[in-house]
Amino acid sequence: MLDPGDRVVMVSGAARGIGRAVVERLLADGFRVSAGVRASSLAPSDRLLVHRYDAESLESAQGWRDATLARFGALHGLVNAAGVSLPGATLADAGEDALDAMWLINVKAPLRLIRLLLPALREGGDGRVVNVSSLSGKRVANANIGYAMSKFALVALTHAVRREAWDDGVRATAICPGFVATDMTADVTAFPREGMTKPADVAALIAMALLLPGTANVAELLVNCRLESSF
Ligand SMILES: NC(=O)c1ccc[n+]([C@@H]2O[C@H](COP(=O)([O-])OP(=O)(O)OC[C@H]3O[C@@H](n4cnc5c(N)ncnc54)[C@H](OP(=O)(O)O)[C@@H]3O)[C@@H](O)[C@H]2O)c1
Repeated sequence: MLDPGDRVVMVSGAARGIGRAVVERLLADGFRVSAGVRASSLAPSDRLLVHRYDAESLESAQGWRDATLARFGALHGLVNAAGVSLPGATLADAGEDALDAMWLINVKAPLRLIRLLLPALREGGDGRVVNVSSLSGKRVANANIGYAMSKFALVALTHAVRREAWDDGVRATAICPGFVATDMTADVTAFPREGMTKPADVAALIAMALLLPGTANVAELLVNCRLESSF
C-alpha cells in the first residue's frame, strides 16, 4: 500500500455528504487534502486547503488546481465527488435543462478536472483518480435516465483514464454505491434510511482505492446496501 503521509489528494463536493466524509477520512489517515467547495464550514489546517470549486466553471477548476499545486507542490490523487441528481430528465420529459445540468456537473466537470490534473498526476508516477459514480451507472432501475446516463458516462471516463494514463502509473477507480444516507437521498421513501450505506463507509473504500499499489488497481467498486438481481 502507498503511504498516506506522502500523498496530496483533491476532493470535489467536499462540503457535504460523501465528499465531506472523504475529507474527514483522508485527514484522519494522514493525507494532505485540498477540498473543493462552493461554500463550507470546513476549517483549514496545515494538512487541509479549502478552496472554492464550482463544477459549472472551468476557470474555477483551474483556480483550484493552481492553488493546490502552489500550496502543496505536488498532487497524487483526485476524488470527483461533486454531483447532482435532478428531476426532469425522464423519457417523458421534453425539456433538457435537467439533462444538460447533470451532464455538465456529473460528467464534463470531472473530465475537465482530470484533463487539468493529469500532468501533475503523471509526474509522480503513481497518481490515483476516484470517480464517484453510482449503481445508476451500472444498471437502469428508475425513471431518471438523465442521471443514469451521466453516471454510465462517468464509468466510461474512468476506464478512459486507465487506458490513457496506465503507462505513467496512473490508476482510476469508479465507485458505484446504491443508496447512501446523504442529503441526496433525504426524500427517498422507497428504502429505509437506516438501511442505506453510510458516507463514512464509502469514504473508507475510496481511501483504500487511493492507497492500493499500481499492481492492484480496482477499476470498479460496486457497493450494495440491498441485494439486487444483477449485483
Ligand atoms: N447519495 C446517494 O445515494 C448516492 C449514491 C450513489 C452515488 N452518489 C453520488 O455521490 C456523489 C456525492 O453525492 P452525495 O450523496 O454526497 O450528495 P449531496 O449530499 O447532495 O452532496 C452533493 C455534493 O456535490 C456538490 N455539488 C453539487 N453541485 C455542485 C457544483 N455545481 N459545483 C460544485 N459542487 C457541487 C455539493 O456542494 P454544495 O454543498 O455546494 O451544494 C455537495 O458537496 C454524487 O456524485 C452522487 O451522484 C450518491
